[in-house]
Parts: sequence; structure tokens; C-alpha cells
Amino acid sequence: TPGKAPLSRFEPDQSIDYSDFIRKVELGRRFNNRPLTYTEKILVAHMDNIEEEILQRGKSLLKLRPRRVACQDATAQMAIIQFMSAGLSSTAAPTSVHCDHLIVGKKGQDVDLPHALNVHKEVFDFLSSACKRFNIGFWKAGAGIIHQSILENYAFPGGLMIGADSHTPNAGGLGMMAIGAGGADAVDVMAGLPFELKAPGVIGVRLTGRLPEWTAPKDVINQLVSILTVKGGTGNIIEFFGPGTKSLSATGMCTITNMGAETGATTSIFPYSDAMNSYLKATHRHEIAAAADFVANELKADEGAEYDQVIEIDLSTLEPHINGPFTPDLSTPISKFGDVSAQESWPPKLTAGFIGSCTNSSFQDMTRAADLAKQALTAGLKPKMPLFVSPGSEQTRETLRASGALAVFEELGSTILPNACGPCCGSFDREGMEKASKTLIRSGSEANKDAGQGTRNSIITTYNRNFTGRLDGNPATYNFLSSPEMVMAKIFSDNLGFNPIKDSIKKDDGSEFRFSPPKGESLPAGGYANTDYVFTKPPSNPSERDNIQVKIPESSDRLQRLSPFPPGRKDDIENCVILIKTKGKCTTDHITPAGPWFRFRGHLDNISNNTLIGAVNAENDQTNSVTNWITGQEGDTPGTARAYKNLGQPWVVIGDYNYGEGSSREHAALQPRYLGCLAIIARSFARIHETNLKKQGVLALTFANEEDYDRVHSSDRISILGISEISPGKSLNLQCTPTVGSRLPWTAKLNHSMTSEQVEYFKAGSALNLMANRKSE
Ligand code: F3S
Repeated sequence: TPGKAPLSRFEPDQSIDYSDFIRKVELGRRFNNRPLTYTEKILVAHMDNIEEEILQRGKSLLKLRPRRVACQDATAQMAIIQFMSAGLSSTAAPTSVHCDHLIVGKKGQDVDLPHALNVHKEVFDFLSSACKRFNIGFWKAGAGIIHQSILENYAFPGGLMIGADSHTPNAGGLGMMAIGAGGADAVDVMAGLPFELKAPGVIGVRLTGRLPEWTAPKDVINQLVSILTVKGGTGNIIEFFGPGTKSLSATGMCTITNMGAETGATTSIFPYSDAMNSYLKATHRHEIAAAADFVANELKADEGAEYDQVIEIDLSTLEPHINGPFTPDLSTPISKFGDVSAQESWPPKLTAGFIGSCTNSSFQDMTRAADLAKQALTAGLKPKMPLFVSPGSEQTRETLRASGALAVFEELGSTILPNACGPCCGSFDREGMEKASKTLIRSGSEANKDAGQGTRNSIITTYNRNFTGRLDGNPATYNFLSSPEMVMAKIFSDNLGFNPIKDSIKKDDGSEFRFSPPKGESLPAGGYANTDYVFTKPPSNPSERDNIQVKIPESSDRLQRLSPFPPGRKDDIENCVILIKTKGKCTTDHITPAGPWFRFRGHLDNISNNTLIGAVNAENDQTNSVTNWITGQEGDTPGTARAYKNLGQPWVVIGDYNYGEGSSREHAALQPRYLGCLAIIARSFARIHETNLKKQGVLALTFANEEDYDRVHSSDRISILGISEISPGKSLNLQCTPTVGSRLPWTAKLNHSMTSEQVEYFKAGSALNLMANRKSE
């Protein structure tokens, strides 16, 4: 049938039906009586309430039915544990689990992967047994980074998916609306509930021209993040359009949409193009390619569709950029980078290069980097520092092997890490670099002035995030983000300011070498290798699945069955202490750091021992040092929270702007909830974290007057009044009572953004409690 294709090679019994897509888009266009952006077409095509809810950006609440769900091994543990506690037997939407975050990079694939399989055996056994039991596709350890595997196997133009990982938008480069959500949202969809989303604004980015030889798709997003900043995309979807979109490869567009997450945007998306069609065919999905061609006219914005804001980028004039350190929106064009880095006193010697991650590990990225490596090798140059390469997936690794690119990296002496996140998420055992044990953590432009103890050093990566300490746990590491081409060229000169476009490198014989612009292939000529052996399909027979035991050892310190949280308060919440008033950036990495803590993702009690240890205390500018206001003792942050929990003393957190930005990990909400936190009161929230708090029954409140943040002292007692009448759009009242000094008690208004359903979560104690209550009714 024209316009129909199997949903994926692994789910031939489910289909993509583009005729249905067209029908719904026409309905949505008629109902809204206006041309639609591509974003809005996908939204209406997946809405439950298509003829009930006008698309009012920033206002209407959409009930969406994603076509699939994906979780990585860190988020899947708690998502599946929650799914199990609700007593459900099979996922309602096609779901996959990808084992990528837990694999620590150190010596290379041959050592690191067996090590991970051994060390994380109980988690992988749990996930694989649970996947079989609940009808979930299981991508084994080393199969690939979640977003690469999604792209190569599941993504399709015009589709909608959610993933429990913030870089899910990667699939937007293949025309799919792919939204990074919390594990709690993933559980909802797995359970058959709609995914609720406030209709986003749509930021249009019009691309014209064609990238110059040295410039890469990474530079498009590096520049866009600097224009929008880490907050500028919040509440919006970034939709690319214009003639420049046709000149980009599908994987290049994925790099751009992947890192769109750094602006806080809900997701980013490109319209359907020939490059997407070619990519689908190269990954052996000819039927989807043909079906998408059938509906190509609807896989883009309507003529006359309006954007809330339009940003123009002329690809032809775009220079390579380097972003960082410590924040992804600090962008410097390569021509100015030498001067700026000297002025800012960034550590002038580069100490390591990293190529890969979900952002930049495509065949095109790797072949362009390999071309530069070949040039340098031919000239007799050697890298001046270690280079770590992470192929995005087994499929890409085997395709690179066949093309000869992998051999070039090996000839360089680089460490070829497993097909996994590795250093990108802090799963990295870096050798030969002293780490700070405890430090002041600063971010943004202040970071270069005081990055704390530990060896100050610069590194360059193709990754998407560079928050303090994210990669190697060393707050004194200055992580710069750039394209694979730039990373590869720069490892041959350890001078941070080296510009490979115009600078030359002195060879041993005294002659000068200068790189020619990189060349690469956007797709492998014979298509991608077949590596289906890294995938386990669940039994298709339900009775066979019902007999499978999910493996959770009783004695495990890594996996713990979940008990429901107590129901929410019915009356005013009085006399709370403030655990911490956070200052400046408080990302989910600060609330629940990654790295070694990944180990406890499935064990709420154990992982709670890292709660808020990276958050800066506004009272003393230190991390992990707060006062216990009951005893007057100084202590670490999670230990103090636990002491309050043991006393039955309710507590809150006071947060600054964009509280909870960064990754989607729901532990950042679960842990405070588990330790007795009743509310986070912030100047503003990052969207995913705010939703996660609501799902766990924690009040996510904002000061109606942002300046009230400054009036609160950590020693004050907080009451939240108006709980008995809590409802959508109705403010609550804050009563703040100083306990030291002569300040007088004061009151202020607090806002929340709970929908009526989310109010029910709060009352039930959590979304999961509500699901269980409804099931038993
Ligand atoms: Fe993994 Fe880094 Fe992407 S952690 S999912 S490779 S952003």
C-alpha cells in the first residue's frame, strides 16, 4: 500500500501509516484554520484530542500518543522498576532499552566491554530479563549509544517518540519529533497513558547556503546555542527550514538536533529531504523511504506557516566554532579562538582529544576525521596527546572497519572505546590527571577564574555538554566542544589556540605542514553493515513472556524494588527547614552527579547519598556543606537531608534560575522526594525537571516575584499555604519566618504550573501511586 511501511525491521507486525498521517494533518489544519509548521503537523497527527484542543502555543495542553519509547541503561532501571510496581504486564507502546551509559571507557573496547559485562552483570541481567518479560527490545551492552541505535533502526520522518534521555532529539535529523523526557514520562507511555505536553512555541531557523570545506554541522549548532543560550529554547521546538537544509546529510542534521537540547528546547526537527531518503535506504529501510516519499509534501511546514521567532544562519559564511569551557553556549569562532583563550587564561596546553558520542559519531564524521588523520600520518606527524574514539554503534563501527577508517584511528595509536557513552557521561577512568576531591564549583564565565583544585588542563571533545566535572570528574578540566574535524586536527598541536585552517605545524625535519580541508563520505557506498546480533527481541508469545522471572537479587546494593511514596499533604505545609538555598547553575548533574553514582541508579536508597552534592550553597559558596537547622551542626547535604527525614522534619530547597537544567534523569526528583523534600521553590525551572518533580509528588513552585529569592535566608522557616485548595492556575502563598537576626516574617506569592492531572499526582503522592490507585479501582 502506498504510504505504508513496517514500523521497524524488528516490529514487522506494527506499521507506519502515512495516509493516516495526512488525514490527521488535514483535520488539524481545518480545526485550527491556519497553515501549520512541520512541528504542528506531527503534533496534531499524534494527538488524542485533535478536535478538542486548538493549538495555542504556550497554552493548550496536548495529550500525545508517541509511537515509541526508548530508555538507556541508567534511566531504564528505575523506569522498569516503576513500571513493575504498577502491576502492568506488557508495554503499551513499542519500547527499547539500550545499554550504553554504564560502560566505563579506559583501555578500549576489548578490555572495557568485558569488564563492564562483569561489573554490571546484575543490572544487565535485570534489564534483559525485564525486557523479555515486558515485551521490550533489548540492545545489549556495546550495541551502541541509544540515539545512534534509534537513528539506525527506529527513527522515521513524521513520527513521534519519547526517550528517557535528553539527547533524544537526535532523531530530529531524520524528520522525527523525538522528545527527551523523564523516566516517569516514559513509564506513562509504556503504561498506555498519553504523554502530556504544553503546546510548544516554534522557533524557526532558516538555513541558506552551503557549509564551507572546514565547517561542519556541529558549527551550526554551536553557533545556534550561543544565539539562544542555554535557556533560550525553553518551551519551544526548534524547526529548521530553508534551502540550506537540503545541503546537509541526515547524520549532520542529527548532530544539530541532538545538541539543540543545550538550548533547553523541547526538541529540534528538520523537514524531510533527499538526504533522509538516502539514509533510510543505506540503513536498509527502503519501504519507509518509499512511503515517506509518498507523503513528502506534508513532511515540511505549510506555505505561510508562522514561527514565533526566526533566526537566519547563512551556512556559507559560517566558521568552525569552539564552545566552552564549562557551558555549551560560550562560542568562539576558530579565527578568534587563539586570542580569546589567551585573554581568558584558559590552560594553553591541550591534554586529550575525544571523538564520538551520540552527537558526533556518524560515518561522515569519522571519515572526515580519518581523512585529516591520514594527511598527518602521511606527513610523518604523530598526535601530541591521547585520542579517544567512541563509535556510535556496532553498526557504525563495523561499517567504519569495512571502509578502512577504523584502521586509520588505530594507526594513530588512539584508544577505540566501546560503542557507548563512556567519557561523555562521566563513565571514564582517566589516567594521569590529578582530580580535585572537593572544590568550589563555578560555571559560565566565572569558571576560568576559579576552577578549584586538581590539575588545570584543557581537552577538546566532539560531545555536547561540558558542565564542570562532567567528563572526568575533575572540576579543573576545561572541556571545549567542537567538530570531529577540529578535534582531529588539533591533537597534532598541543597548543590550545592552534587554528588548522591557517596555522602550520613544524615537522621534525624543520619543514612546515598544513592540513588540507577534510573530505569524507556522507554514507557508506554499500550501505551499513548488518549487526543485528547485538539485539535481543522479546518472545512474541505473551504466555511465554509471562513465565519469565525478572532478576532482582534480594541482597543487591544496586537494584531495589520500589515502595510507594506517602500521599501528598492535604493541608498547609508548615515550618519547613531549608536544606539548601542553591546559587547559580544547579543542573541535574549537580543534584545527582553521574560517573560512579550511575552504579546505584536502580537503588533509590543508595543513590540518595549523592543528593545535591554538586549544588552551591548560597550561604557559604561551597558545595556539599550545609547547616542542619535543628542541631546547628555543619554537615554534608545528603546526610543532613537524611537526618531531617529520620526526624520527620519536612524540608524544602530554594533554587535559582533554570533549576534542574541538563539531563532528564528523574532521580534528581526521586531522591529529594525519598529524603523528605516537600517543595522546590525556584526563580524558574528547566522543563523536564519540573515535570519530573510533579510526577514524584514534589511541589515545583516559582516565586511570583523573582526577587523574593534574594530575601530568603537558609536559616528561615518556610510555610506553604493554600494546599487544601490547590488547583491549576491558582497560586499558593509562601510564609517566610526568619529565625536569626531582626528581620520580620514576610509573605509572598508562589506559582505552579500543575495541570489537573498533575494536581492528582500530588494528592496521590506520585503519578505512579495514581496509576496504581486507578488500576485497583
Ligand atoms: Fe550518551 Fe553523551 Fe549522548 S552520555 S546519550 S553520548 S550525550
